[in-house]
Amino acid sequence: MIKNVLIVFSAVFLLQVSLYSQDGRKRELIDRQWKYAPGDLPDARDPDLDDSGWRVLDLPHDWSIEGSFDQEAGAGGRGGYLPAGTGWYRKTLSVSAADLEKSVWIEFDGVYMNSDVWINGHHLGHHPYGYTGFSYDLSPYLRSGKNLVAVRVDNSLQPGSRWYTGSGIYRHVWLTIADPLHVSRHGIWITTPDVSGSMATVNIKTRLENRGSPARQVMLRTAILDDEGVAVISEEIPATVPEGREDTFAQQLVLQDPRLWSVGSPEMYRLQTDLMEEGVLVDRVITLFGVRSIEYDVDRGFLLNGERVKMKGVCLHHDGGCVGAAVPERVWERRLELLKQMGCNAIRTAHNPMAPEFMDLCDQMGFLVMNEIFDEWTAGKVEFGYHRYFDEWWERDLVSFIHRDRNHPSVVMWSAGNEIGEQSMENGHEILGMLMETFHREDPTRPVTTGNDHIAADDHTNNPAFFEMLDIVGYNYVDRWRERRELYYSIDRHAHPDWKMVGTECVSVGGIRGVYFPEPGRRSYRSGYNTSMIRAEQLWKFEALHDYVIGDFMWTGIDYLGEARWPHKNASSGVMDMCGFPKDGYYFYQSQWTDTPVLHLFPHWNWQGNEGKVFPVLAYTNCDTVELFLNGKSFGVKSYQFPRQGNTENWLHYDRPFVPSTTSDLHLSWDVPYSPGTLRAVGKKDGKVVIERTVRTTGPPASVHLTADRQSIRADAADVVHITVRIVDANGHVVPTADNLVRFSLEGEGTLIGVDNGDPADHGSFLAGERKAFNGLALAVLRSAVTPGTIVLRADSEGLEGEVITISTE
Ligand code: GAL
Repeated sequence: MIKNVLIVFSAVFLLQVSLYSQDGRKRELIDRQWKYAPGDLPDARDPDLDDSGWRVLDLPHDWSIEGSFDQEAGAGGRGGYLPAGTGWYRKTLSVSAADLEKSVWIEFDGVYMNSDVWINGHHLGHHPYGYTGFSYDLSPYLRSGKNLVAVRVDNSLQPGSRWYTGSGIYRHVWLTIADPLHVSRHGIWITTPDVSGSMATVNIKTRLENRGSPARQVMLRTAILDDEGVAVISEEIPATVPEGREDTFAQQLVLQDPRLWSVGSPEMYRLQTDLMEEGVLVDRVITLFGVRSIEYDVDRGFLLNGERVKMKGVCLHHDGGCVGAAVPERVWERRLELLKQMGCNAIRTAHNPMAPEFMDLCDQMGFLVMNEIFDEWTAGKVEFGYHRYFDEWWERDLVSFIHRDRNHPSVVMWSAGNEIGEQSMENGHEILGMLMETFHREDPTRPVTTGNDHIAADDHTNNPAFFEMLDIVGYNYVDRWRERRELYYSIDRHAHPDWKMVGTECVSVGGIRGVYFPEPGRRSYRSGYNTSMIRAEQLWKFEALHDYVIGDFMWTGIDYLGEARWPHKNASSGVMDMCGFPKDGYYFYQSQWTDTPVLHLFPHWNWQGNEGKVFPVLAYTNCDTVELFLNGKSFGVKSYQFPRQGNTENWLHYDRPFVPSTTSDLHLSWDVPYSPGTLRAVGKKDGKVVIERTVRTTGPPASVHLTADRQSIRADAADVVHITVRIVDANGHVVPTADNLVRFSLEGEGTLIGVDNGDPADHGSFLAGERKAFNGLALAVLRSAVTPGTIVLRADSEGLEGEVITISTE
């Protein structure tokens, strides 16, 4: 039998060199050309059903985002007033006779939710949780030629979540064809227990699976590759796997002069795992990993490669704005680039596993990840939430989540849940105990926290045993209750000197971009624009000065769909809106979290009709001093210093020039009577002008201006380009109140996959070919086709000069 397998394999090997010679297995994305039908169609599992009338689409797909906003929607404001329901997907797979001798499995990165999968009418399985991946062995049911995969997705039970989830096969689907003896799914586990500047120990555990018979012996060759793909170090051991079994093999490699992974320099390595049998490559898997050490210290907080790093974090939900839950990778890349420029170095995956490619981006871009899995255990928050599935599924979901993500250097902490009801239940810690044990068993290298809102809460009882059990105690809104508004973590620091503490969630400077005063028909999320930052400022001051606080994750980095009240459809807690356009608060964090000169002036200066009325003009800055002028007239020099410097060497001697502070806030403010014109702010450091900013009263809208985040994208039907639409006056300045309707027309090798403007109260379709600007801006997201060429986008608006932009696809 073994000979037969080998002969078949060799034949395939020769015939399909391009597919197999590289890696011994073929793993391909099978996102293209699925058929989709909304509603429940019991016969849809039947391979013979005539589906010629079904819609043909490419995955990832989220049908909720295609719907209309409806105040009566079952998911309510939690789900962004978008529809949920049931839907079916079908796809034909062509399988060669040779592949019937192999192991073939299908993998879903995420289906929201309650999916059932059939192959040729045979039921493969059911998977409730929409955020964990799963796979099915297809081999026993395949036939040569056409095979039919059918997927039923049931998101009809509403409300099922506290935020927008999306519905459908909203993440990638993969097909793997491998030798019956192969590396198991998520079968490589890499740890770096000893890391120094000169060497690193790399421990590798490889799980092999033999789905065939009889027992087989292979050489397991493990190599660490350099950037050119050349092995810098490798080791080979014999591995025998009995028929129908999975076994794990341990190896250790020692890397000399390792390039360490860090936030500033996210160096990645590739590990190549080869299974060789009589000189033939049977299977090959490439795994990305990073070499770094992490440590959590009761006094010093978090240490990466031995150095203290304060986590400057944001919480993020998984939707990508106008594209819903089916988020092209580039959408996340752009968002993460913007967060990086803000100085953010850490992400909390609120409150569920993100897509695999999101985790890869965090590795590549140097983010620290608090990787969170649940929002509910047994105590429900919404009627049809995960609590219904917890008892039966928690362990499978948790283990597959850990196995998927434990090689990511970016993942530095696990979170078992957010605001879990069990934190105040008498036996709640027993459930936490089961989860902790599983985390520690599957990954002893990272600590576990939970985001807790009941610590010291007036309206809930605590279960002290729950907090004692955590590796790191996570605080949601540490400053919410009573004197904690000033004392923060220090109360518990005295009471529990052995606790490690992190702010799993804290208040951000959110609000609605460009909205400064209450407007009819709009829910204002924050207090006034001149006070909304104060709570965040005070918290940051405490944290920056107290090393024992690991850091804080603000709610949220970006606005997200759902958790809204009509007429709003999205939450506006982000420092960026749903388009990724920075709000003023973005620059507060940038001024505190980066060293590059920041000077952001707000509000806008288009207050026609309010002449003489006094407006606070604010600046977020990290300059020593800022002087503000209106139409050339100075309103004075203002400054703050944080941390303030005390004397050094001698009394009245300072390391840096002493600048008297005009405030102990972390922003500057001038009261300016409005008259149209130009506000100009001049920022100085060490006595020298380092930055200037102006805000002008603009004229009326004159034209539409387009800019692209990239001039050229990949022609792969997956890459996207973001086009920012600005409504500008005759001098090219963005009109900060403009709400002109912009119509898009597109030609060439691409499609318009989403439009938005960041306005929470805009109920226009994200898929329409038009969008009103909101406070001067709108966004269009275009996706490439597979044919290289150009995408030409034209944007017109009545009474304004339009613009055309051309993007090449390669
Ligand atoms: C928190 C919760 C988040 C979100 C936020 C809204 O308590 O953990 O998921 O609901 O409140 O302010």
